[in-house]
Amino acid sequence: MAEKSAKLLLNDAEYELPILSPTQGPDVLDIRKLYGQADVFTYDPGFTSTASCESTITFIDGDKGELWYRGYPIEQLAAKSCYVEVCYLLLYGELPSPTQMEDFRNRVTRHTMVHEQMHNFFRGFRRDAHPMATMVGVVGAMSAFYHDSTDVNDEWQREVAAIRLIAKLPTIAAMAYKYSIGQPFVYPQNDLDYAANFLNMCFSVPAEKYTVDPALSRAMDRIFTLHADHEQNASTSTVRLAGSSGANPFACIAAGIACLWGPAHGGANQACLEMLREIGTVDRIPEFIARAKDKSDPFKLMGFGHRVYKNFDPRAKVMKESADEVLDLLGIKDNPTLQVAKELEKIALEDEYFIEKKLYPNVDFYSGIILEAMGFPTSMFTPIFALSRTVGWIAQWKEMIGDPQNKIGRPRQLYVGAERRDYVDLTAR
Ligand code: ACO
Repeated sequence: MAEKSAKLLLNDAEYELPILSPTQGPDVLDIRKLYGQADVFTYDPGFTSTASCESTITFIDGDKGELWYRGYPIEQLAAKSCYVEVCYLLLYGELPSPTQMEDFRNRVTRHTMVHEQMHNFFRGFRRDAHPMATMVGVVGAMSAFYHDSTDVNDEWQREVAAIRLIAKLPTIAAMAYKYSIGQPFVYPQNDLDYAANFLNMCFSVPAEKYTVDPALSRAMDRIFTLHADHEQNASTSTVRLAGSSGANPFACIAAGIACLWGPAHGGANQACLEMLREIGTVDRIPEFIARAKDKSDPFKLMGFGHRVYKNFDPRAKVMKESADEVLDLLGIKDNPTLQVAKELEKIALEDEYFIEKKLYPNVDFYSGIILEAMGFPTSMFTPIFALSRTVGWIAQWKEMIGDPQNKIGRPRQLYVGAERRDYVDLTAR
C-alpha cells in the first residue's frame, strides 16, 4: 500500500486513492481500481494529466527546462558523450565500461547492412515518395525479412531486434533519400562511426571520393543524441500501445515512425523550415506573428511551443549552439532563411502573447537550420528524427515488455453519441 493517499467523495461514498511518489516529478494518483470500485472513468483527452506507465529511462522537468537520460543531464551527454554510448545508456540503464562500449559498438556496426532483397522492396515505391512514407513501409517490412527476431517473449530475440533496428535505421533512411533523388544506394562502411557512416550513405556517390568532415559528423551525432528519447511523447506512447498487444518490434517502430511524421510532432522540423522559407524576408514576420495570434486562423508558428516545456527546451539551447558552429564552419552568414529565423526568434521571445503562453523555440526550430546547412532537403528532416528516436522507442518498448504490470493498452471513452435506436429499413427512410 502506498504511504500517502487521497480521498474522493462521490455520490455519498468515499474512496481512497493511493498516491505514488516518483523519484522526481509530481506525485501520481493511482486510479487503477476506481472504475471497479466506483463505476466512473476519468476524462483526460491528450493525456495532459495522465501517467500511462512507470519508467526509469527519461525525466523531464518542463518548468525548469531539464531533460535527463537515466539521470544524466542532456547538456552533459551532448557535450561529452556520443550517440552510440547514449544508446547503450538508454537501453541498459548505465554508462558502459570501455569493454562493454567496444562490444556494443561492434554489435551495432556489424548489423548496419540490410537484407539485399530489401533493395527490391525499395524499388517498388514511386521515386517522389516522401522518405517518411518509404520508411514506415520498409521498417514495417523488416518483420518480413528478420523473422528470427520477432518473438517478443524471447529475451535474446528482443535484444537482436533492438540492435538491428538501431544499426539499420540510418541505412534505411539514407536509402529512402538516395532512392528519392535517383542516385544509387550506398552501402554502409563499418570503418566510419555511426554519424559519419550516415553522412557518407547520404552524400557520397560512386563517381567521386567523399570525405566526411569530422566537425559535421560531430554535429550530426549531437542531433542524434538530442533526439534519442523524450519519455512518453506521442510516438513513444504509440510504440508502447502497439507493443502492449504483443506486436513484433519492427511493427511497433513502424507505428512510431507513422506517428512521428505529423507536423505537431516530429514533422515540425520540416514544417518549420518551410514556414521560414514562406515568410521569406524579415519584413513579413509581423504578418505571420499576427496570424499565429489570430484564433480564427489555424496557423501556428512551427518550431514554437511544447506540451511539457513551459520554459526553454534544453535541447533547443544545445541545438542553437550547434547551429552557430555549423554555419560558421560552412561559412554561411547571409542565408535569408537564417536571417528570418534569428529575427523571428527575437520578436517571438519579446512578444506578450508568446511570453504569456510560455511558447519558446523548441528543438525543431534549430535542427532544421543545421540540417539544411549540411545539405539535407527538408523531406529528410523527419526521417533523421526517426532514426535518432528509434533507440528511445526500443528502450521504452523493452522496458514495457519486462514490466510485470504491463497490460494491453485500452483507454475508455466519454460516449456522447446517439441513444439506442431501432434500425429503419432503407425503403422506409
Ligand atoms: N504558435 C501560436 N500559438 C501557439 C503555438 C504556436 N506554435 N503553440 C501553442 N499555441 C497556443 C495555442 O493556440 C493555445 O492558445 P489558447 O490557450 O489561447 O487556446 C496555447 O498556446 C496552448 O497551446 P496548446 O496547443 O493547447 O498546447 P499543446 O500542449 O496541446 O501543444 C504543441 C503543444 C503541439 C507542440 C503546439 O505548441 C504546436 O502545435 N506547436 C507548433 C508545432 C511544433 O513545433 N511541434 C514540435 C513539438 S516538439 C517535438 O515534437 C520534437
